[in-house]
Amino acid sequence: MVLSRKPLKGMRELTPGEKRIEDYIIKRLREAGVVYGFEEYETPVLEPLELFLAKSGSELAVEQSYNFTDKGGRKLIMRPELTPSLARMVAASGELIYPVKWMSFPVCYRYERPQRGRAREFMQFNLDILGVSGLEAELEVFLVLRRIMNSLNASPGRYVIRYSSRRLASEILESCGMTEEEMAQAFAVIDKKDKLEPDEWEELVRNRIKIERSADTVINFASCSDPNAPWLVEAAGGSEACDEIVRFSGMLRDAGISEAQFEASVVRGLDYYTGIVFEVMDTGGKNRRAICGGGRYDNLVGMFGGQKVTGVGFGLGLLTLELFLETYGLIPDSISGKHPADIFLAIYSDEERTFAVNLAENLRNVGVSVEIDITGKNLSKQFRVADRKSIGYIAIIGPEEVASGKITLKNMLSGTETECEVSEVLRMLRDRSLSGEAN
Ligand code: HAM
Repeated sequence: MVLSRKPLKGMRELTPGEKRIEDYIIKRLREAGVVYGFEEYETPVLEPLELFLAKSGSELAVEQSYNFTDKGGRKLIMRPELTPSLARMVAASGELIYPVKWMSFPVCYRYERPQRGRAREFMQFNLDILGVSGLEAELEVFLVLRRIMNSLNASPGRYVIRYSSRRLASEILESCGMTEEEMAQAFAVIDKKDKLEPDEWEELVRNRIKIERSADTVINFASCSDPNAPWLVEAAGGSEACDEIVRFSGMLRDAGISEAQFEASVVRGLDYYTGIVFEVMDTGGKNRRAICGGGRYDNLVGMFGGQKVTGVGFGLGLLTLELFLETYGLIPDSISGKHPADIFLAIYSDEERTFAVNLAENLRNVGVSVEIDITGKNLSKQFRVADRKSIGYIAIIGPEEVASGKITLKNMLSGTETECEVSEVLRMLRDRSLSGEAN
C-alpha cells in the first residue's frame, strides 16, 4: 500500500522555511506582550467537552470541534480556543496578583471547512487582562495591538481595529422587545453584515427577523459607524452602554490610536462577551477574515464559582496575520531564506576532519552557528550544499589551515574572502552582519 503524502486536511504542517516565518511573527508578538508586562502560560490541548459547551456556545463546542469519548468514557474536546481554559485556571488560582496580564500561543482545533485564512489546526496568540473593570484594560489591549502591527511594519492605513459594544447592542435589541433567543439570532445576522452585499444582507435580516420594527432596528444599528450617530443617540443616548462607548472612543482619540474605528456591526461570534468587542481587519479587502478577535468577558471566571473576575483580551490567528503580511510584502526575504548556520566548514580531506570538528565545537562554544561537512563528499559538492542552503559564509579546512591556524572566510553572496585567526571568526561574522554584508 502506498501511503498518502499529504497530512490530514486543514492540519498545520510547516517546512523549516515556513516555520522560520512563523517564528519571526511569534518573536514580534512575544516582544510586544513582554514590553507591557505580560507573562506566558500554558493550558492543555485536551479538555472536558463540558467546559467548552458551557463557555464557548454549542456552535463552536459541538458543530465546529474535534470531540470524542476516550477509553475511560470521558467526553473530550481538542481545544477550539483558549479563553474557557484561562478562566478556569484563574478561578482555580487562589493567590494571583491582579491585574493578571497573561499571554499564550495555543495550537487550536476547529472542524471548519479549510479555506484561505481558515484551517482545522491553527496557532493563536492570546493576550488577556483579568481583574480590571475599567476601560483602561481595553485601551492597553488596543495599544498592544497597535504595537504588534507597527513592529511587523504594517502601516496604520493597512489595517483597522474595528470595535463596538455587545452591551450596547443588547440594550438596543432589548428595547424592541427581543427575547434572549431572538437576540442571539440577531447577533448572528449582524455578524454576517460584512460578508454579504448590502442588499443581500438586508434581505437576510428581513427573512430572519419577522417583526418589521425589530428588523429596522437591527439594520439601523448595524449601519452606525459613529458612536455619536444621530440614530444611535436617539435610540440609546444617555444609557450606560452608550456613554461607555462614547467615552472609550474619546480615550482612543486621546491616546492617538487612529487605527481604531467604531463599527456597530462588530459583535464577534462567542457567547461570553459582555462589553466592548473588537477585531483587526485588513483595510485593503484582500483578506476578509479577522486577523484578531476579542472583547470583554466579565462573567466567565465567576461561572466556576467563587470570586467574580472581569476579563478583556483577544485571540490573534497566526495564519490570518501571516496572510496579511504576505499580501503586502511585509515578510522580509531574509527570514524565509535564512539558514540558521552562520558558517559552513568544508573539509578538504579526512586528514583535516579532527581539526575541523574541534574548530567547529570551539566556534559553537562562543555562539557561532556552524554546519560542518559530515558526508565526506568532494569539495565542490560541499560548496553546492552550502550554497543551496544559503549559508552566508564558507571556510575550507585544508592542510594549510591546519598548519597556520588561520582560516579564510568566504562570503557566499559577494564572493569576498577574508583571512583571519580562528579566534577572530566570531568578531568577523558579527561585524559583517552588522554592516549588512552577510545574507
Ligand atoms: P475567535 O474570534 O474565535 O476568538 O478567534 C480569534 C482569531 O483566531 C480569529 O480572528 C482568527 O484570526 C483566528 N482563528 C479562528 N479560527 C480560525 C481557524 N479555523 N483557522 C485559522 N485561524 C483562526 C477566540 O478564539 C477568543 N477566545 C479570543 C479571546 C481571547 N477573547 C478574549 N480573549
